[in-house]
Amino acid sequence: MTEISLFEAIYTQRSIRKFTDEPVSEEAIAQILEAATKAPSAGNRQPWEFIVIRDPQTRQIIGDYYLKAFREYKARVLEQAKTLPAAREQVARWERRGPPDAFAESLSTIPVLILVCLNREKLGVLHDDPEQPGQIPSTYASIYPAVQNMLLAARGLGLGSVLTTLHCRYEQEIKALLGIPDHVQTVALIPIGHPAVRFGPTTRIPVQQLTHYERWGARKEKG
Ligand SMILES: Cc1cc2nc3c(=O)[nH]c(=O)nc-3n(C[C@H](O)[C@H](O)[C@H](O)COP(=O)(O)O)c2cc1C
Repeated sequence: MTEISLFEAIYTQRSIRKFTDEPVSEEAIAQILEAATKAPSAGNRQPWEFIVIRDPQTRQIIGDYYLKAFREYKARVLEQAKTLPAAREQVARWERRGPPDAFAESLSTIPVLILVCLNREKLGVLHDDPEQPGQIPSTYASIYPAVQNMLLAARGLGLGSVLTTLHCRYEQEIKALLGIPDHVQTVALIPIGHPAVRFGPTTRIPVQQLTHYERWGARKEKG
């Protein structure tokens, strides 16, 4: 495997939703999880835990929940597209590239699914409380950097992955299936496999349109 630079990994890490059947080694999964645990978290509480799922029957059940959630989500996006420009653009992208149904239908066939869990007990925050200023951002900011590390580590190893959250619609069912306790929340489901399509570049809004200097709305002069 050829090593790639950090910036090449960042610039080309995109959602991979098509995989080959090639198995993913235990060593690669261990490296991805090790990278996850290097992420920052509030107070260094490290509230992450991971369930590595390879069992075909478990993948099938989770895949079925995902597909159900995806169909509900797709119907909602199509409804939103009637009034919301961002949803209209999303639907236009689906039309250009083909809708993401195939991925949802194939989730159970992807070699490894990693369920990223947030152990809320470690944060001392068992439930989101909108009345507590900053608590909700700090809770989720204590787990998604670890997820991003996983995506980048997978890219570095030449493996494809995608951050998914649709399973959360059936979180209670999935928690019961896997014996996950109440104080643990499942925040991401990351399929990992050898990509059957190419990595990035990603399509993003130019940073100049998103950067303000000293005050909101103050842009840099061109040149
Ligand atoms: C919070 C969040 C939730 C997401 N959930 C899903 C998901 O459930 N299913 C999916 O296929 N992609 C999901 N994605 C991936 C996004 O669709 C993807 O990152 C975005 O379209 C940009 O595409 P790219 O990663 O290929 O550049 C999610 C991304 C984020 C950040």
